Amino acid sequence: MKISIIGTGYVGLVSAACFADSGHSVLSLDKDKYKIKLLSSGKTSIFEPKLKTLLKKNIKDGRLSFTTSFSRACNADLLILCIDTPSKKSGDPDLKNLNIALRQISKFLRKDLFLIIKSTVPIGTNEYIDDFFKKNSKFKVEIISNPEFLKEGSAVQDFVFPSRIIVGCNSKASKKIMKKLYAPLKLAQKKIIFMSANSAELTKYASNSFLATKISFINKISQLADLTNANIHDIKLGLGSDPRIGEEFLNAGLGYGGSCFPKDIKALISLEKKSNLPFSIFSVVEKINNQQYEIFYNKILRAFENSNLKNKSFFIWGLSFKPNTDDIRDSISIRLIKKLSPQVKHIYVYDPQAMPSASKSLSDIKNITFSDNSYHNIEKSHALVLCTEWNEFKNPVFKKLKNLKDKKIFDGRNFLEKSEVIDHGIEYIGLGIN
Ligand code: UDX
Repeated sequence: MKISIIGTGYVGLVSAACFADSGHSVLSLDKDKYKIKLLSSGKTSIFEPKLKTLLKKNIKDGRLSFTTSFSRACNADLLILCIDTPSKKSGDPDLKNLNIALRQISKFLRKDLFLIIKSTVPIGTNEYIDDFFKKNSKFKVEIISNPEFLKEGSAVQDFVFPSRIIVGCNSKASKKIMKKLYAPLKLAQKKIIFMSANSAELTKYASNSFLATKISFINKISQLADLTNANIHDIKLGLGSDPRIGEEFLNAGLGYGGSCFPKDIKALISLEKKSNLPFSIFSVVEKINNQQYEIFYNKILRAFENSNLKNKSFFIWGLSFKPNTDDIRDSISIRLIKKLSPQVKHIYVYDPQAMPSASKSLSDIKNITFSDNSYHNIEKSHALVLCTEWNEFKNPVFKKLKNLKDKKIFDGRNFLEKSEVIDHGIEYIGLGIN
């Protein structure tokens, strides 16, 4: 099939590379000329495992190309919209970029086609887009909702082996084309669940907000564990062993970040407010998430309460919002650094991938040094603060960590073994680890 994908963010780029790799002919569009030039040469500005290899292979094999031209993109069997929908101040998703793309499509459309919406959009948006084309185009545009569930860091894997493919559409023709689209990805095709467009849009919000709720729930339990001298690792095992609950997304820590959970929770809070629905579970989920890094910050202050923090330096491991990505959008590590830096002498930081993006975001901070590796400058630091659980941080060289001046480790993701840290003569402070 001849497919055009509008938008080259995480979702758009991974979809383009994976659909091309499954044999479709894919044209990927972005308005950013520089980005298109970079991508055309097989390079990408984002770090995502396996993505670069797929891009290079499919460009070379002639199945994947890039453009800034809507006129070229509209000459396809189907268009897939992967435009970002960031939060507005009100919490509602901003459809500005999406609307610009719709206007461009309506301008350059030369035949009937299918338009798949992969962007996360407010409930009712597919109906609105349907209406838009009825009013603004003489061609028949069938709108299909197909929200994306890929996780950064394992996006390619998630695309090829999805847990489910949600498709919101009405017509037989739409169902047929979606089966054809996913047919080369054999496993994915078997996992298609058809429903209405509104249900598909809400399913996306329900999935992300459920996972965010699980995280805030376990974080609240970790607060109770600290109050009652209990251990969150044991509780997670006991709780998650019930198959009705499951142990995934029950890791207590600094809280959720990234480009999806915070935004999607905000969108649901706004929807509830507008609809006057009482008892918002999502407001509480958000509040707990915002509280969690404050609790961690206070643990750091308490550990140094008898000394002047202005004389203390900290080494932060991890800047990205989670491991295996260079994405720092809504990264709790960045928030913590912004809060901690004015209070302390110096901050040293290290992240395997996110240093370039983080250095821009933290450029206002004067007392920060971006270290060459996780141990460079460790002897100048009083304590180590762990913010992202990258694999390379999981087996630290304790001989080097013993050079920390005050021999303290604050583990914001609870991933080091407390007893092992203590055995090396270093104090360990986690969240709900007692
Ligand atoms: C998420 C959804 O998982 C994906 O299905 C959706 O389509 C896009 O949003 P992503 O934002 O890439 O994916 O990251 P995810 O792996 O879900 O983690 C989100 C945040 O939750 C991270 O900050 C992570 O550190 C945090 N998290 C995750 C926890 O704090 N505890 C956990 O147990 C799991």
